[in-house]
Amino acid sequence: MPRNLFAAALALAGALTATPAFAVAGMPNATPIADRVDGLYNLIFWITFVIFVGVWAAMAYVLIRYRYRPGREAKQFHGHTGLEIIWTVLPTLALIAISIPTYKTIRYVDNAPKPDLTVQVVGHQWFWEFKYPDNHVDVSNADLVLPANRVVKLLVSSADVVHNFGVTDFGFSMDAIPGHINEGWVYLKAPGEHQLFCRQLCGTLHAKMMAKVKVVPDAEFASWVQSKGGTYTPGEKSAQAAPQANAAEQAAPKQVAAAPKKADGAALYSANCASCHQATGEGMAGTFPPLAGSEIPNGPAAEHIKIVLHGKSGPLTVKGQQYNGAMPPFPQLSDEEIAAILTYERTSWGNKGGAVTPEQVKALR
Ligand code: CUA
Repeated sequence: MPRNLFAAALALAGALTATPAFAVAGMPNATPIADRVDGLYNLIFWITFVIFVGVWAAMAYVLIRYRYRPGREAKQFHGHTGLEIIWTVLPTLALIAISIPTYKTIRYVDNAPKPDLTVQVVGHQWFWEFKYPDNHVDVSNADLVLPANRVVKLLVSSADVVHNFGVTDFGFSMDAIPGHINEGWVYLKAPGEHQLFCRQLCGTLHAKMMAKVKVVPDAEFASWVQSKGGTYTPGEKSAQAAPQANAAEQAAPKQVAAAPKKADGAALYSANCASCHQATGEGMAGTFPPLAGSEIPNGPAAEHIKIVLHGKSGPLTVKGQQYNGAMPPFPQLSDEEIAAILTYERTSWGNKGGAVTPEQVKALR
């Protein structure tokens, strides 16, 4: 009888596992990341459900089968190799079953497809600022307007204290930290409206730090950008623009870009540096210092190499402007690649810093 009970529980769990992923109650999944995260949580839920049923069924069996009955005497014994193997192997399998899809999901979230648009989100006490550096738009205390069916790169930071950029429908939230850029991406599946909250207690008006996310079709987005004095030319939708289809597998842009056969300074720059310092080397006023005509690319090579190898934080002045340094280190790039990037930076946009060799980089690593 208990064996039948166990089989029935397994069959029930199996049937339930086959049900599709559901969203957080009443919240639509606006992005493929939300779908994946939900799918992962449901999978883990059902795995733990099966374990729960198995453990309780075994316990019920033992309680009933070996209950006290008059005239029976309990036997004492120690050790059972078979049981010990089972309770080592089964948890190991359960952990493997959970870790593989978890790793895949993390990889999917981490490997942003090639973006069609970059939006910089800056938390302030107590409002949000949204900058569209490629489109020359900067809005504060307003809706976050985004095009549907486009890969949007998010650069989240803060101007004062730690905030958190949280949109439930996106399936994730990101800390907005002063002096640090958190990178993420969204691909909004359909036009619609979503609620943005600040999810980090950041002062007296924290609760008021909300905004709407308005997702609109391309054409409507273009006219919104225009109404804000900017430009938006929707490009061809990239092959990765349907991240539903295994974007994690096809899109590992950083790794691919970082290992070209011959180190190509311009290509490496656009893959690693341009999202902050811009393709023009002009940076972004007040956030990312310019490289064009500025002190570092025209000064001693050693300083320049150290900044790329080890990063740079804290206040700094570039071309008379104050910045809060948030440059991450790039130790993953090879000596040849860093030399190529630095040579490109030091000889482009009118810079006269001169070439850097891989040997110089190696000496400072
Ligand atoms: Cu900003 Cu809470």
